Amino acid sequence: MKNTKILAIKHLDIGDISPDMFSSFIEHLGRAVYEGIYEPTHKTADENGFRQDVIDLIKELNVKKVRYPGGNYLSGYRWEDGIGPKENRKRRFDMAWSTVDTNEFGTDEFMKWCDKSGCEPLMAVNLGTGTPQDGANLAEYCNFKEGTYYSDLRKQNGRKEPYKVESWCLGNEMDGVWQICHLNAEDYSKKALETAKMIRWIDPKTKLVVCGSASVNQPTFPEWDKTVCENLYDFADFLSVHQYYWWEGNDDDFYASYVQMDEYIKTIKGVLTFVKAKLRSKKDMYISFDEWNVWYQNADNTPDRLIAPHILEDVYTMQDALVFGGLMNTLLNNCDVVKMACLAQLVNVIAPIMTQADGPAIRQTIFYPFKYVSNNAKGKTLRTVNTCDKFDSKYGKADYVSSAITYDDKEICVFLVNYAAEENEININLNLFKDIKVKETVSLFSDDLKKQNTFKNPFAVVPTELKGVKTEKDSVIAKLPPFSWNMIKLSHDGE
Ligand code: AHR
Repeated sequence: MKNTKILAIKHLDIGDISPDMFSSFIEHLGRAVYEGIYEPTHKTADENGFRQDVIDLIKELNVKKVRYPGGNYLSGYRWEDGIGPKENRKRRFDMAWSTVDTNEFGTDEFMKWCDKSGCEPLMAVNLGTGTPQDGANLAEYCNFKEGTYYSDLRKQNGRKEPYKVESWCLGNEMDGVWQICHLNAEDYSKKALETAKMIRWIDPKTKLVVCGSASVNQPTFPEWDKTVCENLYDFADFLSVHQYYWWEGNDDDFYASYVQMDEYIKTIKGVLTFVKAKLRSKKDMYISFDEWNVWYQNADNTPDRLIAPHILEDVYTMQDALVFGGLMNTLLNNCDVVKMACLAQLVNVIAPIMTQADGPAIRQTIFYPFKYVSNNAKGKTLRTVNTCDKFDSKYGKADYVSSAITYDDKEICVFLVNYAAEENEININLNLFKDIKVKETVSLFSDDLKKQNTFKNPFAVVPTELKGVKTEKDSVIAKLPPFSWNMIKLSHDGE
């Protein structure tokens, strides 16, 4: 049996948790849109063709914002192809994923779908083939009240009131050589700056996200991030960063992904602090970690058909859910600087939800940690001092237990991942909290780390109660099963 001691003190926190941390991403990629969120012939489809079974699962996940329409797809996207009467919409070859898009689903459909799903749009403008003018036109279409070409076009297309989209991403992964019309940091900065100015002239209230590094493995990391921040600091609210993780032959390296994500965030935080000081700025810029997940990038992704092919449809294991849970803890533990984060992606494409055409929608293993964290992590994250057994990994020593503790004036939520092959006895001292009572416990584990939820067996990995959790004064004592993700929800006196 392993042992872990965690000390947290009331009010000694890291920062406020932004609900935008529980956002996600829908790209015109594979079956994310078509057969994912949109399938007019499905038995649950509404009058817009939106799958209600998928909407129900998205509501269960409690997703805040949805980034759209890409991703790599964004950098070749002509948004005007996706508006107006469907019969006039152009089919286009998508160079990012070598597929064909019918453009049946576009900006107005997305806005309507967000509304029905209880999500907010996080719109992205094309800074690959697109010009600053194209981006500004889209902002005018979405956010300008009336009396101009694009705002009146929106009204003509059936939407009287502006959509008032709050947050806008200026391009996607423009540091990547794979990106359509990839740019260097200086050229991207110039293009993004001019786009930012124009969007802000149209709607001064918009929040803008500029491209940071597509991953820590980029040769330009972190120089790219520094240049972009220096050039765009006055206009940008967020720097976007992305990172994916997958099993590459060593379990411990995979489990330690949360350590690598933490270092990545801390490095970017350092860049933001440096640039703020250099520019003598009074404002802050935050991180939008707007693509993160487990993604098997070595999988075969040859499209099986041109329209909505089955690509990037990773089927997640129990082991993937453990890594995923650790990443969520790291996001919570950096809530002072990560104010937005998007799980990439939401349906079918590296996603917590999988659908079958004409068939059911199911919850993947990673669905559960996201659901419980997004529904329960509220208020602030507490700082903790952890005394824990450690394992070696390519990222250095890692704690066998990844943890995050959040609290508001009613509840405390403890999220714990046990990466040990044996039980882990946890003793959490919640100093200065009074009248602690266990309200709910959840544990996700399996006798087989490679177990998956499939259409044949959709409930192979499901959460159960974590039994035997006790409180003693201001301490919580529990035994975490081997290789498990866990949540302990407590009430406190609220003082
Ligand atoms: O999410 C899949 C892809 O990963 C996105 O299109 C791109 O932005 C990233 O490289």
